[in-house]
Amino acid sequence: MNRSGTSVNPFYSSRVEPSTRAPAPSRYAKLPRIPVNASPVPHLTSLYHNSEAGEYGRRDYPGNCGGNLIRDLLRYFSVSIAADPMTGSGTCFDVCQELGVSCWSSDLHQGIDACSPSALPRESFEFCWLHPPYWRQKLYTDDPRDLSRTPTLDAFLNRYRQLIVNCAGSLVPGGRLAILMGDYSDREAGFVPLVYHTKRLAFDAGLRQCCTDITRFSHGASSGRKVYRSAFIPGLHDVCMIFER
Ligand SMILES: C[S@@+](CC[C@H](N)C(=O)[O-])C[C@H]1O[C@@H](n2cnc3c(N)ncnc32)[C@H](O)[C@@H]1O
Repeated sequence: MNRSGTSVNPFYSSRVEPSTRAPAPSRYAKLPRIPVNASPVPHLTSLYHNSEAGEYGRRDYPGNCGGNLIRDLLRYFSVSIAADPMTGSGTCFDVCQELGVSCWSSDLHQGIDACSPSALPRESFEFCWLHPPYWRQKLYTDDPRDLSRTPTLDAFLNRYRQLIVNCAGSLVPGGRLAILMGDYSDREAGFVPLVYHTKRLAFDAGLRQCCTDITRFSHGASSGRKVYRSAFIPGLHDVCMIFER
């Protein structure tokens, strides 16, 4: 306890104010051993920590995701035809080009609202890659149909539900839907567990999860370079969930 009666963390000198503390240095984490198995992509595990984004899409596009995880999933599931209805800078499309996978890709930027029931062809794809806005974490267009522009969490979840139903309906039986999503928080809404909501909505749409969650380390995220005055536990990952129709 200090003189004012509040507890003091014994690991910090009392002369160091929180605002002047140096950030913790990056450390290397020792990862668990990968069991030998017959996977065609043995390095693909529940921990995705590849810091190379790969030469796909545009790194300066807001919300851009590296293409290497998409490439590994397409190879793991031996995909020959895929879809990406929120393609942004075309990361998934570029990966498909490289692998010789045919790819149907679109975005609201091209005027196609993936939340509209008629947006996607039905029963056509072996694999659908879906990387939606993490609600309003980043704003993408001025279009009110943009998922990132939905004014309330309920409005976001209603449109997100329809989006997942559309993607599920675009799969052939046995096809897979991979959704990359991160939890979100802001002052007004507090902590919003979007990964939980994604699973709930996917199960409601009749999908089943077909393998482990893939926790993707957020290398290169712009938030990692920001300085915040408030205290919180930084989230350094998002989650790729894979469902089967
Ligand atoms: C997280 S970004 C995808 C980034 C992409 N994976 C990449 O690597 O460039 C989400 C995308 O969803 C698009 N989007 C938002 N609402 C949409 C809607 N209703 N229909 C189609 N696309 C939408 C945005 O324009 C944005 O490009």
